[in-house]
Amino acid sequence: MSNDSPIWADEQVDWYVQNWGEHPLFSELPHLLNLPCQADIIDLGCASGGLIAALCGYLQQGQLTGIDPSPRMLEYAKARALAPNPKVTVAWRLGQAEHLPCADQSADWILALSSVQHWQDVHQGLRECQRVLRPGGYLLLVEDIWQELEMPEGVTPPADADEPALLPWPVLEQALEQVFTHAYRRWRHQGQGYAMHFTLIQREPNHV
Ligand SMILES: C[S@@+](CC[C@H](N)C(=O)[O-])C[C@H]1O[C@@H](n2cnc3c(N)ncnc32)[C@H](O)[C@@H]1O
Repeated sequence: MSNDSPIWADEQVDWYVQNWGEHPLFSELPHLLNLPCQADIIDLGCASGGLIAALCGYLQQGQLTGIDPSPRMLEYAKARALAPNPKVTVAWRLGQAEHLPCADQSADWILALSSVQHWQDVHQGLRECQRVLRPGGYLLLVEDIWQELEMPEGVTPPADADEPALLPWPVLEQALEQVFTHAYRRWRHQGQGYAMHFTLIQREPNHV
């Protein structure tokens, strides 16, 4: 895929939605992170909205915002029949990590699943996440470990799949340390048929 534009070609979007539009991690994630039931949450690189749909069944109060640079992805997302709690609002926004269409300090959580390796400017994306997070808010970055992925039947990995160097950890590590002052936690999550790296960063809480 080209690194010049964040917008995926239509065929790539259709392929992705067909094969990865649903993932067991979406419904597992709120419990894995022990997410609060009242929060304003952004899904950054939301694709066709599978995680937002799962969060609709979990969140009791707050705002869910799905952001993706691909209009076609958002068409798929908007076509979902969602049934959020009455105190939960859902918004879809066209945008990308490097220029988040969100106000300063407006989110408690930013979840970026299999997304950071597609950002064109990781530093700028992290700076934007820091701007949009409330003090004490959390950013979760999840990266696929391709070598341990069970591909759906008849599907071969995309051309860049065997290049974990798409975003080598030292590059992300350096960017994280330059943008966030707080320590982060990184661990390997083993799911059924997949494994992923999780990196959880907290924005520094306000000092009194
Ligand atoms: C591999 S998909 C992951 C989608 C979804 N989060 C999931 O876990 O299935 C990557 C997504 O990131 C989006 N994307 C590409 N460049 C981006 C950027 N600069 N900022 C945010 N999202 C981006 C793509 O349009 C795509 O929907």
